[in-house]
Amino acid sequence: MMNNPIQIAVVGSGYVGLVAAVCFAEMGHSVICVDNDDRKVAALQGGDTLIHENYLPELLERYRNTKIRFTSDLAEATRECDAIFIAVGTPQSETGDADLSYVEAVACEIARSITSYKVIVEKSTVPVYTNEWVRRSIERNGVDRNLFDVVSNPEFLREGTAVADFLHPDRIVVGADSDRAAELLSRIYVPLTGGEYYQRPDAIAGSCSSAAPPPLLLTSTKSAEIIKHASNAFLALKISFINAVSNLCEATNANVEQVALGMGLDGRIGPKFLRPGIGYGGSCFPKDVAAFRSVAEHMGIDFNLLSEVEKINTQQKKRFLGKVRSALWTLRGKRIGVLGLAFKGETDDIRESPAIELVEMLLAEGCSITAFDPAAMKRTQEHLAPCDTLRYVDSAYEAAKDADALLILTDWPEFAALDLDRLNRILRYPIVLDGRNLYDPQVMARHGFTYISIGRPAAYPAREPLP
Ligand code: UGA
Repeated sequence: MMNNPIQIAVVGSGYVGLVAAVCFAEMGHSVICVDNDDRKVAALQGGDTLIHENYLPELLERYRNTKIRFTSDLAEATRECDAIFIAVGTPQSETGDADLSYVEAVACEIARSITSYKVIVEKSTVPVYTNEWVRRSIERNGVDRNLFDVVSNPEFLREGTAVADFLHPDRIVVGADSDRAAELLSRIYVPLTGGEYYQRPDAIAGSCSSAAPPPLLLTSTKSAEIIKHASNAFLALKISFINAVSNLCEATNANVEQVALGMGLDGRIGPKFLRPGIGYGGSCFPKDVAAFRSVAEHMGIDFNLLSEVEKINTQQKKRFLGKVRSALWTLRGKRIGVLGLAFKGETDDIRESPAIELVEMLLAEGCSITAFDPAAMKRTQEHLAPCDTLRYVDSAYEAAKDADALLILTDWPEFAALDLDRLNRILRYPIVLDGRNLYDPQVMARHGFTYISIGRPAAYPAREPLP
């Protein structure tokens, strides 16, 4: 479809790297995806996506060995490609800062192989000034300044909807301090920004169209770096804000769903990311809020608002544990069914999952747990030490069977569509604690449940009210 495909290398085949690589191929470019883990490279070459993500298996199958190739040879990829996207991990260090050693190692390795003009693109989430450090380390490795530029092109995709998010972004941010580099990045994204991609009959569906393609925002490199951190921190703030409001609703017998609806209808606030729950998790928000707070601290800026965001998030999990305790009186020896282990629905990712933290807290309290998650059980089994009091089962109903209470901890769509009569029959006591507000309290009461959720009055079966 493209007159002018570009040779792109993507370094790192995690959520961002692999999705970007496959989507660049879908946009018509020629892609080399580089990873230093040979087992990952072999798996990807064989068509295994390694992560649970919609559309990824189909796209990988379509472009594997044609428009996209996998290798561990970064030197060769650097020589062959015009743009090299760095999408390696930036984990949180003990101080809260992002650990940039992987980014630095990749930058140095790229430097050793540059013989013609290259644009090196930061795709990983990194703190402000990283772009400058990448440029410096390439120069320190002896590369002529005219042979490269470093650009910031943060990624805003969400896990679970990563492919659709990448191809239908709200905006594309390109932070470039040189026209030549900005021009190459604009050409890479032109199938999206020019609307051509959306005319294809086989285009992945989403919110953009050829009449309303995504805008590309050109900024300085530092602004682009801050846009990414500030966006994630702001979204986390929205979640903590509504969680704090939900606590106030609980204390006053108001309903947080009505409050969020009423707030969200204000165009200046918007309805998204106002879902209360058991706190945000995942590989991004906890890490990025901490890193952004740390950047501000280093710069001598008082950004204590972010510490409050984190504090509310931590409290939210403890509050939920408190609700389980007050519903069951004592916890030792209680049998709990758990629905959901992933940090949110539609993903198998359990990093910083509030569900996993709650499982650990309940085990520490002496509960025995029967857990089910549609995608994240394998990863959980690898992560949590096996113990007699934790059992994994194959369905939501098996998790509920003979349990003293059922906990909904992840917002998988299938957990919102359970057969309530069947559920009531198989639970030992019909008590549901819903950390994701998937059900209407009145409906649960009519089906005979004691139903405790977030920021809404608890509902009790008509015949058997609890004190
Ligand atoms: C987040 C951002 O939404 C993406 O824009 C960004 O690109 C990504 O981080 C990243 O930096 O890589 P992600 O972590 O995949 O994406 O997941 P979200 O959908 O944002 O959810 C994060 C957490 O917040 C989840 O635990 C979710 O359950 C929770 N959440 C989300 C709420 O509790 N309430 C809400 O209203 C929304």
